[in-house]
Amino acid sequence: MIVSASEQVRAEAPSFTEVVRGRHSVRSYDKSVRLSHEEIKEILAEAALAPSSSNMQPWRFLVIETEELKAKLQPIANNQSQVSEAAAVIVVLGDREGYLKANEIYEETMKQGFMPEDIAKSFAERSIALYGSLPQERLDRIVYIDGGLVSQQLMLVARAHGYDTVPMGGYDEALLKEAFNISDRYLPVMLIALGKAAKPGRPTTRLPIEDLAFFNEMPAK
Ligand SMILES: Cc1cc2nc3c(=O)[nH]c(=O)nc-3n(C[C@H](O)[C@H](O)[C@H](O)COP(=O)(O)O)c2cc1C
Repeated sequence: MIVSASEQVRAEAPSFTEVVRGRHSVRSYDKSVRLSHEEIKEILAEAALAPSSSNMQPWRFLVIETEELKAKLQPIANNQSQVSEAAAVIVVLGDREGYLKANEIYEETMKQGFMPEDIAKSFAERSIALYGSLPQERLDRIVYIDGGLVSQQLMLVARAHGYDTVPMGGYDEALLKEAFNISDRYLPVMLIALGKAAKPGRPTTRLPIEDLAFFNEMPAK
């Protein structure tokens, strides 16, 4: 039987359970492994299938992949060695003006036949009016939530592609913004190192689900 390359990739793709259970924060990377822009874009495009508030997709990705820029980032990120070892570090950003793309987003939804023109237009107008009228703090919260969702999806997608990641909140935000010309329009959500593990991530445990999940009512305290 002749199997096309894409069918073969799909057949070899790990199951969702393998992806979820196989993802661990990796802090040691094989420096010889680099990813092409095409591969990084494919991973980011799949990550960007994550849900977002009103589908505004306010995430943006600054991919730092040159040796020089990774060396510049490392001291800003608490000197964490994964910054220079990984193939790339992705700065996940939330665009505080992301909702201004509402027209573009809903026009595409309409063009693809997913929504009639009048509905798409009214959705776009309503989104711009709504998000534009929110207090900055509320808007930032939404952008952070969406940024968290895309970040997690990115890490799982990377695993499904055979790569490893570690999310990093250990960095100086002001220095990061200054060093990489990130204006106040963008909120840094987290850094994600992406590459191929040289050493597996250390095993971690989770709280028992009984301590986390409550059916129908919350405990008294
Ligand atoms: C928002 C956030 C920030 C984190 N920051 C760092 C960091 O700066 N450096 C690091 O080595 N790990 C960091 N981690 C990784 C956590 O330590 C890790 O996810 C946790 O210990 C669970 O391990 P696991 O990811 O292997 O399941 C961060 C994780 C999250 C979600």
